Amino acid sequence: MRASISTLSVLAAGASALQIPLFLSEKQAPVEPASDDDYHGEKPQVSSSALQDLISGNKLYARARKLYEIAKLGEDEYNHPTRVIGSAGHDGTLSYIYETILALGHYYDISNQSFPAVSGNVFESRLVLGDEVPKSASPFGLTPPTKNRQPVHGTVIYVENEGCELGDFPASVKNNIAFVKRGKCPFGTKSEHAGIKGAAAVVVYDLGSKDGIGGTLGTPSPKHIATFGIGGEDAKPILKKLKNKEYVDAIAYIDAEVKQIATTNIIAQTTFGDQDNCVMLGAHSDSVAEGPGINDDGSGTLSLLEVASQLTKFNVSNCVRFGWWAGEEEGLLGSDYYVATLPKEENQKIRLFMDYDMMASPNFAYQIYNATNAANPNGSEELRDLYIDWYKEQGLNYTFIPFDGRSDYDGFIRHGIPGGGIATGAEGVKTKEEAERFGGKAGGWYDPCYHQLCDDLSNVNITAWVVNTKLIAHSVATYARSFKGFPKRTESVAAKDYAEGVKYHGSKLFI
Ligand SMILES: *[C@@H]1O[C@H](CO)[C@@H](O)[C@H](O)[C@H]1NC(C)=O
Ligand SMILES: *[C@@H]1O[C@H](CO)[C@@H](O)[C@H](O)[C@H]1NC(C)=O
Ligand SMILES: *[C@@H]1O[C@H](CO)[C@@H](O)[C@H](O)[C@H]1NC(C)=O
Ligand SMILES: *[C@@H]1O[C@H](CO)[C@@H](O)[C@H](O)[C@H]1NC(C)=O
Ligand SMILES: *[C@@H]1O[C@H](CO)[C@@H](O)[C@H](O)[C@H]1NC(C)=O
Ligand SMILES: *[C@@H]1O[C@H](CO)[C@@H](O)[C@H](O)[C@H]1NC(C)=O
Ligand SMILES: [Zn+2]
Repeated sequence: MRASISTLSVLAAGASALQIPLFLSEKQAPVEPASDDDYHGEKPQVSSSALQDLISGNKLYARARKLYEIAKLGEDEYNHPTRVIGSAGHDGTLSYIYETILALGHYYDISNQSFPAVSGNVFESRLVLGDEVPKSASPFGLTPPTKNRQPVHGTVIYVENEGCELGDFPASVKNNIAFVKRGKCPFGTKSEHAGIKGAAAVVVYDLGSKDGIGGTLGTPSPKHIATFGIGGEDAKPILKKLKNKEYVDAIAYIDAEVKQIATTNIIAQTTFGDQDNCVMLGAHSDSVAEGPGINDDGSGTLSLLEVASQLTKFNVSNCVRFGWWAGEEEGLLGSDYYVATLPKEENQKIRLFMDYDMMASPNFAYQIYNATNAANPNGSEELRDLYIDWYKEQGLNYTFIPFDGRSDYDGFIRHGIPGGGIATGAEGVKTKEEAERFGGKAGGWYDPCYHQLCDDLSNVNITAWVVNTKLIAHSVATYARSFKGFPKRTESVAAKDYAEGVKYHGSKLFI
C-alpha cells in the first residue's frame, strides 16, 4: 500500500496556513502492500458487467450501518447524530473513507486536501412583525446573530426596488428592520447594504413563494447583519400597511455563529492507467447539522467507496480519480476549492466529472442531470446519454432534472470540465405521472427526510441504491476502459449559458 500525501503550506489572505496536495506527483516511500497479489499477477481489464456484478445491497447497507454509528459521534456537541463539517461525526467519516482506501493498498494514491471553510450555526431565532409571527420566516444560512445575541426591536422600513443599490435604503432603516424584496442581486448584497446603513436586521420577502426562502448569505462579510427570509403570504399584509404609511413594529432575534474552520477533501487515484487522462467522480462526505445524512450524501459517499473497493480486482487503461468533498452543504466549498486551485495542466487531465449526490431517496425517481453540450463543456451530453442508454437497457424509466448548480459539479462546469450525474431527488414533490413511472407516493417529497434528523438508516431505498451504484460502476468501467468517441478536452471556457441559468449554489438559493 502506498499513501502519498505531499503538502505545501501557503499563506492565503485572511486564512491561516492551508495545505494543498501536489496533485499526486511527488510520492513518499511506499508502505508495505496489503498482500502479494497487489504486486504480482495480472488483473483482467475492467469490464462494465463484471464490475456491476460485484455491487450488492448487503455490502452497501453494512457500510450505511457503520456510517450511522460514525454520525453518532456528533451527539456530544449537537445532541443528535450529524456529520456536519467540524463535527466529530464528519471527522469520523473522513477517517472511515481514508482508512478504507488505504486498506486497498498500492492500487490507489490517496491525498488529503485541507482548505478553509465557514460553518454557520443558528441556535435560536424568532421574528415578530406587528402582531404576527410569520410562519414562513427562517433565518438565512451563514447569517450573523442580532446584536449581542439579543432580540432587537424596531420599525419595519420599506426598501425601494430590490435593495441592490445602497440608495434603495432610506436613512430611517438605522436601528430598524429593513424590508427588502427578493431578486436581481444576491441575498448577501442586500444584507450588506442594510448593515452599512445601520439597520438592526433585514427581512427579505419573496412574493412568489408560500414557504419562505431556503437561502444563504454566501461568503461572510463583516457588513452582514441578521437576515430572515419570508414568503409572499406573510409579506403581503405587511406591504399593504407600509404602503398606507402605517407603522409596523418588529422584533427580530437570531442567536447564531459563523466560524472559520479547516476541513478536508479526500482524493484517491488509481496508480494504474494513463495518468494524463482521468475519469473523475465525486460525492460529498459531509451532512447538514440537522441530521446524520445517510441518504444525503452518505449514499453517494458509500457507493463510491464500494465501487473503489471492487475496482481493485481489475486493471484500468485510464486513471480513475475519486473525490470526497467536504463543505458541500455550506455551499459546495470543497469541490469549488479543488477545481479553483487546480493548475491548468492538471485541469486538462480530467476528461470528465461525474457527480453522485443522493443515490437512494425513499420516494425516488431515477433522475439524470440534463447536461447538454449546448450549455456545458463538450462531453457533458455524451455522459448524459450514457446514463440514458443504461436505464433503457435495464428497462427502467428515467427523468431529466435541471443542471443548475445544486451540487458539486458546479465548479467543474465553470472551469470547462464536462460533467453530469444522476440523483434520486431531494425536497421536490413527486408527480402522479412519476409515481406511475417509478412507484412510490405522488404528492410527497422524493426524500421526505431531506436535511432532517430522520435522514437515518431507514431513509434509503436499497433497490434504488443498488440500481444507481451499478450505474456508477458502469460509468467508471466504461471510461476507465476507453475514452473512444468521448470529446477531447479543449482550453477551459467559462460556460456562459450555464452560469446564466444558475440560481443555486449547493442546496440553497443565493439570489
Ligand atoms: C495493468 O495494465 C498495464 C498495461 O497493460 C500493465 O503494465 C500492468 O502490469 C497491469 N497491472 C495489473 C495489476 O494487471
Ligand atoms: C488524512 O485525513 C484522514 C482523515 O482525517 C486522516 O485519518 C489521515 O491521517 C490524514 N492523513 C494524512 C497523511 O494527513
Ligand atoms: C434539456 O436542456 C436543453 C437545453 O440545454 C433544453 O433544450 C431541453 O428542453 C432540456 N430537456 C428537458 C427534458 O428538460
Ligand atoms: C415505466 O413507466 C410506465 C408508465 O409510463 C409504467 O407502465 C412502467 O411500468 C414503468 N416501468 C418500470 C420498470 O417501472
Ligand atoms: C424501494 O422501492 C421499491 C420500488 O418502488 C419498492 O418496491 C420497495 O418496497 C422499496 N423498499 C423500501 C425499503 O422502501
Ligand atoms: C465536441 O466533440 C466532438 C467529438 O469529439 C467534436 O466533433 C465537436 O466538434 C466538438 N464540439 C465543440 C464545440 O468543440
Ligand atoms: Zn447533498
